[in-house]
Amino acid sequence: MGSNAHVPVLLGPVLEGLKIKPDGCYVDGTFGRGGHSREILKRLGGDGRLIAIDRDPQAIASAPASLTDDPRFELVRGEIAQLKTIIGERGLDGHVDGLLFDLGVSSPQLDEAERGFSFMRDGPLDMRMDPDSGTSASEWLATVDERELKQVLRKYGEEKNAARIARAVVNARQVAPISRTAQLARIVEEASPRRGQKIHPATRTFQAIRIAVNKELEQLEAVLAQSVDVMKQGARLCVISFHSLEDRIVKRFMRQASRETEQYRGMPDVPEEFRPRLRTVGKAISATDDEVDANRRARSAHLRIAERI
Ligand SMILES: C[S@@+](CC[C@H](N)C(=O)[O-])C[C@H]1O[C@@H](n2cnc3c(N)ncnc32)[C@H](O)[C@@H]1O
Repeated sequence: MGSNAHVPVLLGPVLEGLKIKPDGCYVDGTFGRGGHSREILKRLGGDGRLIAIDRDPQAIASAPASLTDDPRFELVRGEIAQLKTIIGERGLDGHVDGLLFDLGVSSPQLDEAERGFSFMRDGPLDMRMDPDSGTSASEWLATVDERELKQVLRKYGEEKNAARIARAVVNARQVAPISRTAQLARIVEEASPRRGQKIHPATRTFQAIRIAVNKELEQLEAVLAQSVDVMKQGARLCVISFHSLEDRIVKRFMRQASRETEQYRGMPDVPEEFRPRLRTVGKAISATDDEVDANRRARSAHLRIAERI
């Protein structure tokens, strides 16, 4: 992963999907290390504008002067669920020509042991993209109810051994607080041994807890609904997801927004507010074999595109 820290996923299809106009106004809702932002900015003229958002203070601090000194560029620390506020404050409601969300965690977040995302590197069990708000994974595991933990593991991790792992966590925390990533990885491995699987037994548990701690699906649902409001007619929405739960939310949202509200389906005169607001553009796009060979993170990426009508 480390060597891929700056390789933006599905770059070509994203740039094409955004249909960039040199004088347009664009939003990169998941700045990360600015891989996509940098390329979008290259395609903008003097009157273009790019607003990038990230909730991770390290992502914000990492932005190079070549970006932050550019008058067409603005980097905002915040959550994508605040999209409408961030755009509204700048007087740009209804003026955005394209939005990109490259969801999930960044390679630097995974690579740095201190962030607590990785079962491969021992560190404090934190997992927050924004370490200044919310509850760390360790705090969350200290109090979560066994049933809720089981549901989270099953739903967000699609973990078959959810019940056994949830029980093991609850037993372990009675002995000592679960405060390190290696400690959690060990608890999971003991409860659910590898038995020939290719992935580490803790992979799904870490993914599930990360999604819960960062409220990733709630953030996604909120930003999709708000995106449509900030978009100009003809604007493009591009969303890259990395697991089936996310992709399902994006797919369902785009499909629903591209139909009339149920009660008006097939009717000749549909009032404005019940008309479709999006048109889906093509099918989900995945990375080519060459891209996956060059960048492991691309292997589970799905890009979906829709246009505001
Ligand atoms: C996969 S990385 C983006 C990589 C970026 N496209 C690049 O090429 O460098 C995702 C980034 O989005 C941020 N992020 C994820 N969910 C977020 C949310 N709900 N609100 C704000 N930022 C979020 C993460 O902190 C992370 O830095």
